[in-house]
Amino acid sequence: MKIAVSGKGGAGKSTISANLVYCLAARNKPVFAVDADPDANLGLVLGLDPERLAQLQPLSELQEVIAAKNAGGGTMVDLNPDVSDVLEEYTLREGPIHFLKMGAIKQGGSSCYCKENAFLNAVLTNILLERPEAVVLDMSAGIEHLTRGTARGVEIMLVVVEPTRAGVSTALAVDRLAGDLQVPRVFFIGNKIRTAADRDYLVSSLPEERIVGMVPFSEAVLERARKIELQGFKKEDQLPGMKEIFDKLSGGGNSL
Ligand SMILES: Nc1ncnc2c1ncn2[C@@H]1O[C@H](COP(=O)(O)OP(=O)(O)O)[C@@H](O)[C@H]1O
Ligand SMILES: [Mg+2]
Repeated sequence: MKIAVSGKGGAGKSTISANLVYCLAARNKPVFAVDADPDANLGLVLGLDPERLAQLQPLSELQEVIAAKNAGGGTMVDLNPDVSDVLEEYTLREGPIHFLKMGAIKQGGSSCYCKENAFLNAVLTNILLERPEAVVLDMSAGIEHLTRGTARGVEIMLVVVEPTRAGVSTALAVDRLAGDLQVPRVFFIGNKIRTAADRDYLVSSLPEERIVGMVPFSEAVLERARKIELQGFKKEDQLPGMKEIFDKLSGGGNSL
């Protein structure tokens, strides 16, 4: 399963991503959990060791590694450097979970930024298109880390939507961006649903056949988010209904 999770800030991308990572890890499936949101919090939601998390450098900030990967290139950028060694070294591993922090995509188009972006692109190409492990990409609504090339490796884009106008508007914008990149399947997941009216609102505002589920608002999730030190992600941390949604998503094209 190679899945990207997007949606408006605060919609629940990291929470849903962590739930998907948990579903895979609980089945002992190796999974790359990739924090690709500049407002990075997937590691925290997964309850990874805070000290190791603090030490983990975002890939975009590995200046020396990035320079070395382009060694000898002068102003030329190697568009497909071998990055498997980097993945070994800059990944935080806990059991089947391989956690990576991407860091921000640089805008501006100067050659040094170009090298950084080419490097991040090579990492995504590696994990999305070349390696067998599952991938859960926790992205911003801009999905700027994806290109036409890497989007080919994303089997599903899951857009998290709160039942608000702003949430829906962002979700539809992400749907268009993903469509432009030719992501094969884009699905919506309602989150923080409290009432039948919330549900009806999303059903009437989004393409209904592409809504994979509605996740209720959960006091327990909010309570967990207030804790200072989380240790790991446990069965009882799962959102209600997430297992069923995971089964639908991993069942392949036929079940949806
Ligand atoms: N189903 C839910 N019920 C209650 N709180 C939720 C739910 N989903 C997410 N949250 C809370 O909403 C906040 C934003 O969620 P988060 O996953 O960090 O969003 P994002 O990654 O999209 O910015 C967090 O405090 C999280 O605990
Ligand atoms: Mg987040």
